[in-house]
Amino acid sequence: MEYQEIISRRQEILSKPVRPVPADRLEKERTLFTERNRKSLEIFERAKGLIPGGVEHNLSQSKPFPLAMDRGKGYRMWDVDGNEYIDYLMSGAPIILGHAFTPLDEKIIEIIRDKGPATGLTSEYELLAAEEIIRHMPSVEMVRFLQSGTEADMAAIRIARAFTGKQKIIKIGGSYHGWSDQMVYALHIPGTGPLNSKGITSESYAHIVDVPPNDFDALEKAFEDNKDKGGVAGAIVEPIGGESGTHPVHPDWNRRMRELCDAYGSLLIFDEVVTGFRLDMGGAQKYLGIMPDLTVLGKIIAHGYPSAGAVAGRKDVMAVCHGGLGEKIYIGGTLAANPISTAACYHALKLMEEHDAVGKATRYADRLTNALNDLFSTRPDLGFFVYNYGPIMHYVTTSFFSLDLSAPEAFMEILTRKQVADDYQIVTMAHGICSLAGTRMYSCMQHDDEALNKTLSVWEYLLSLIPKDA
Ligand SMILES: Cc1ncc(COP(=O)(O)O)c(C=O)c1O
Repeated sequence: MEYQEIISRRQEILSKPVRPVPADRLEKERTLFTERNRKSLEIFERAKGLIPGGVEHNLSQSKPFPLAMDRGKGYRMWDVDGNEYIDYLMSGAPIILGHAFTPLDEKIIEIIRDKGPATGLTSEYELLAAEEIIRHMPSVEMVRFLQSGTEADMAAIRIARAFTGKQKIIKIGGSYHGWSDQMVYALHIPGTGPLNSKGITSESYAHIVDVPPNDFDALEKAFEDNKDKGGVAGAIVEPIGGESGTHPVHPDWNRRMRELCDAYGSLLIFDEVVTGFRLDMGGAQKYLGIMPDLTVLGKIIAHGYPSAGAVAGRKDVMAVCHGGLGEKIYIGGTLAANPISTAACYHALKLMEEHDAVGKATRYADRLTNALNDLFSTRPDLGFFVYNYGPIMHYVTTSFFSLDLSAPEAFMEILTRKQVADDYQIVTMAHGICSLAGTRMYSCMQHDDEALNKTLSVWEYLLSLIPKDA
């Protein structure tokens, strides 16, 4: 679906009243959810006293209570009560070969059994993994492994400042670059500024320049206005738009960003934590044909195994990570580049290429997107729609992410619309479909016709619960 169509369809949804599942029907669904998830509820009740909120993972579905998962295989997951799910969370994007992919797991088990998890010194896998990343990513000449996407984003910002000698970092509203003090600004919804910045000093984000998505004038002004205020060291973007395309990018946005970085001597940083090796084996940079100076990678480079992150880029830029005492920038991480993570990276990338994982996951996402849009077209009163960037699908039902904050009662409207989207998710989850945040679905190379048909039938059921416009 084209950018302009996505924007106007979102607006169309926002122009209509939100369409909740009626209270009596919702109550039945909640009861069903609770009845089939007794063990999960028990775990949650025990966890509440020991873990703040009873759940740690920030992607976790938590309404009415979090479900504890037992295992995953292929595109399926099973919770501790034995319920089966068609999974579209895919652990938050890193799984594209499928859960518990035996050829990958066997390699890691071998390392753990024969060699142990880590020595604290380098291993050949570090080199092999770096070679593999460089072979695929067109702009990348050097790689530095870290332990998470958050750390890799922090390192990219530090490298940009050290290389350019400039200070400001442009960040696009609504985008996510981890939870470091500097990057928790204007999260999720553009224009929210420091709304989520409790516990962070304002000095921490004093040199972050927040630019609204797709606002070309504001972007240029950000470079120009900061020219004599420390200058722009770098612009960090999610190349398909904030929150992995939840806020889609104008087709000319990345090109303009590249031009402005060149004109002002700033670095273009692509955060490819989700798009790298998922949108394309060469990331969004290959898909879009736009070369960043620095690339941030995470999650998928260890395919679900822990300690996944890397900052990568041009040789001259990456050179600030080494050099003499006092010259190089400081980057740490005791377990960064450990043999398990780097072996997982090397073998996962090899297997993804061998199995054409991106191609298969994309073809499934294209089919599901079309099929769901066909289904939604039977209910024009709702205006629901789906769009996808390869195996990254976004479904828009209440459109709470796209509300304009300057609108009257905007915050209340966001909360109401989010609540209704959460209620839809209770229904889909209670019938065996797991997605991300009630708005996003990731596919893997193993999703098949059975997954597609089951997904459609659950959505058909959800639509049947929402009364038609009189
Ligand atoms: C685009 C993007 N950047 C950075 C991160 C942070 O990665 P991590 O959770 O590994 O710290 C995420 C996590 O979802 C992400 O989506």
